[in-house]
Amino acid sequence: KNCISIGLLGLGTVGSGVVKIVEAHQDRLAHQIGCSVEVKKVLVKNLEKERAITIHKDLLTTDATEILDDADVDVVVEVMGGIEDARRYILHALRNKKHVVTANKDLMALYGTELLRVANENKCDLFYEASVAGGIPIIRSLVDGLAADRVTKLMGIVNGTTNFILTKMSNEGRPYEDVLKEAQELGFAESDPTSDVEGLDAARKMTILSKLGFSMDVELEDVQVRGISSVSAEDIDYARYFGYTMKLIGYAKRSENRIEVSVGPTLISHSHPLASVSNEFNAVYVYGEAVGETMFYGPGAGSLPTATAIVSDLVAVMKNMRLGVNGTSAVLPQYPKELKDDHE
Ligand code: NDP
Ligand code: HSE
Repeated sequence: KNCISIGLLGLGTVGSGVVKIVEAHQDRLAHQIGCSVEVKKVLVKNLEKERAITIHKDLLTTDATEILDDADVDVVVEVMGGIEDARRYILHALRNKKHVVTANKDLMALYGTELLRVANENKCDLFYEASVAGGIPIIRSLVDGLAADRVTKLMGIVNGTTNFILTKMSNEGRPYEDVLKEAQELGFAESDPTSDVEGLDAARKMTILSKLGFSMDVELEDVQVRGISSVSAEDIDYARYFGYTMKLIGYAKRSENRIEVSVGPTLISHSHPLASVSNEFNAVYVYGEAVGETMFYGPGAGSLPTATAIVSDLVAVMKNMRLGVNGTSAVLPQYPKELKDDHE
């Protein structure tokens, strides 16, 4: 094929970024994958809405089957969010032998194992780098970069919205509601920001990272979660006075026979590198038995950083298409969520 066709589900903060990067990086993409990339159709909810980018009206549709049943569409990029519709569309796409790239952590945390299994069965790729920590290639690093090691602990800041709020409250003394509103305007927050501020978004990401890092079937319902909505300006001031910064920290470690995962507001000493991770930036520490301590840092939310992760996944799909090895790279958890015997 001379051209790879993409069907985009969603044209909001992330979807617009994907269109921008695909358009701006045609030469680079062509060099890497040997053909051009075309956005063939885009699913939206509201055809009349004003968009952040200029896009031909004929490309827009409200009928998902125009993408999912189009034999010319090679890859479906799901950036619409939500669970039920997104799950249905992704399953439909995979069963129609289309590769899928998604940014949907809500979905991957709950149904990732099922979706990856269906992808494997259909010899399709399902990549989801953008679902955790925006522009940081943390999933690829866990799956490939640290493949040889045994991860013992994961820790970090994996929600950009709450880090943005805590940073601005602490450094600029601004009220919580005011900063949350700015995070929404900048496109960092989820459509319902409750999942950000109550820690659920971070819990979903820690579930995804834990499954990959520990290769165990960690479940979202087992994550202990506390968000930042109960953190007051006084708490932040006190912490600062005593040399600490308040951060929403995700934490996962091996205990005897299971993985303990938690998310909660945590006091971090000013001298610790996580204390200087500001605004929408994220950072993830991965501790491995052989490698020791590694830290991954970068923008955790926002249009172009997240879209970069999506387009990198597209490149991976296309390279696999060239080699004829699609559907072989999905990693399913090796162990159940609780080990009965000494498996390792
Ligand atoms: P937005 O709300 O900005 O965009 C969602 C898009 O999907 C809109 O274009 C909307 O259409 C469309 N859409 C939503 N539901 C439907 C539906 N049922 N049928 C048809 N179209 C639909 O979301 P984001 O771009 O911020 O996020 C998209 C995904 O990426 C989410 O899963 C999010 O968690 C994830 N993500 C977001 C990041 C960010 O920084 N924003 C970072 C990492 C991941 P319309 O425009 O007509 O309303
Ligand atoms: N709402 C998410 C965040 C988007 O603030 O981190 C990136 O996943």
